[in-house]
Amino acid sequence: MTRQILVLGGDGIGPEVTAAAERVLRILAGRHKLALAFEHALVGGACYDATGLFITDATMAKAKAADAILFGAEGGPKWDSLELTGPPETRSGLTRLRRELELYANLRPIRPFEALLAHSTLKPEIVRGVDFMIVRELCGGIYFGEPRGIERKGDGLLHGFDTQDYSEPEIERIAHASFALARSRRRKLCSVDKANVMESGILWRRTLTRIGERDYPEVELSHLYVDNAAMQIVRNPRQFDVIVTDNLFGDILSDGAAMITGSLGMLPSASLGTPRPDGRRPGLYEPVHGSAPDIAGQGLANPLGAIMSAALLLTHGLGRPDLAQIVERAVARTLEAGIATPDLGGKAGTGEVLAAVIEAL
Ligand code: NAI
Ligand code: MG
Repeated sequence: MTRQILVLGGDGIGPEVTAAAERVLRILAGRHKLALAFEHALVGGACYDATGLFITDATMAKAKAADAILFGAEGGPKWDSLELTGPPETRSGLTRLRRELELYANLRPIRPFEALLAHSTLKPEIVRGVDFMIVRELCGGIYFGEPRGIERKGDGLLHGFDTQDYSEPEIERIAHASFALARSRRRKLCSVDKANVMESGILWRRTLTRIGERDYPEVELSHLYVDNAAMQIVRNPRQFDVIVTDNLFGDILSDGAAMITGSLGMLPSASLGTPRPDGRRPGLYEPVHGSAPDIAGQGLANPLGAIMSAALLLTHGLGRPDLAQIVERAVARTLEAGIATPDLGGKAGTGEVLAAVIEAL
């Protein structure tokens, strides 16, 4: 059965790094009898310039039918400065993809490479051996809750307000995704909330506890308040296996945790939905970084975040963690050989790093 991969390179360095990731996937597929078909479409500013939309209905239909989406980055000064109104999904192709495919589980692995320990913002002895996953809820919470707005209220003053709102099913599905992931790893799940001051946090904690006791007794569940979690992540990051948290807390904690690994250009992510009846799971795989307009078109982009995203695609989208490991080892060997782009202090370009990874595969 041929698996369909939709490649959405987007803007800036997005297409440069997804091209590298696609090369790696094609080579592995050829060697390991994996039938992959790649299709390409515009997204983000490139799509807006061509069609007036940040993603078209035709591309959305392809995204829904695909086995996995490999995404680059969207945005840039030209489009960020457009004064657009309307719901968020009309202003960003990525937001529309996340919303309509219900990609509610955003996975960000935090696993520093040995060769890059010196690049971490933390001491090497704290960083060595760190290997955890942050699961951020991506479709709900305060970024989408209603009511929201800026209004003059009864006291005569202007108020800016947002609503943190999670339904029980929204918490249940992210709980299941996180427990299942922890079960496949070291069986430790840490749920992060603010249940001491937030009602949504109380429901969050209660739901995680109930599902854990009922369905995942083999996973050790712990709870942390988010302020303590932020401290623990920089104090002793080795204590964590899987961390699950809401949209807002996950946004903040994952950017902070990212610096444990040293460089934005290295970080992959996966955004997953609920498995379909046929077992296939909707998923979008993208590096954490943006379109980097300052280095776009110069062949200097670090392709490793996108290549590591392809590794996540192999694991979560195609059920081939064995091939993902081959990719990760090739990346590690490339870095050990000192072949790196300028963001890591190296002198190599995107093409040289890709060539080294391919050589090491
Ligand atoms: P950015 O991640 O694009 O760049 C931040 C800094 O990191 C820049 O100096 C850039 O050169 C460097 N950098 C990023 N990725 C790199 C890589 N692979 N190799 C080497 N250096 C790299 O973030 P910024 O500048 O805030 O945003 C630029 C544009 O990207 C904006 O339009 C923003 O909205 C968009 N963006 C898109 C995201 C997405 O598509 N998921 C995520 C973040 C930003
Ligand atoms: Mg962020």
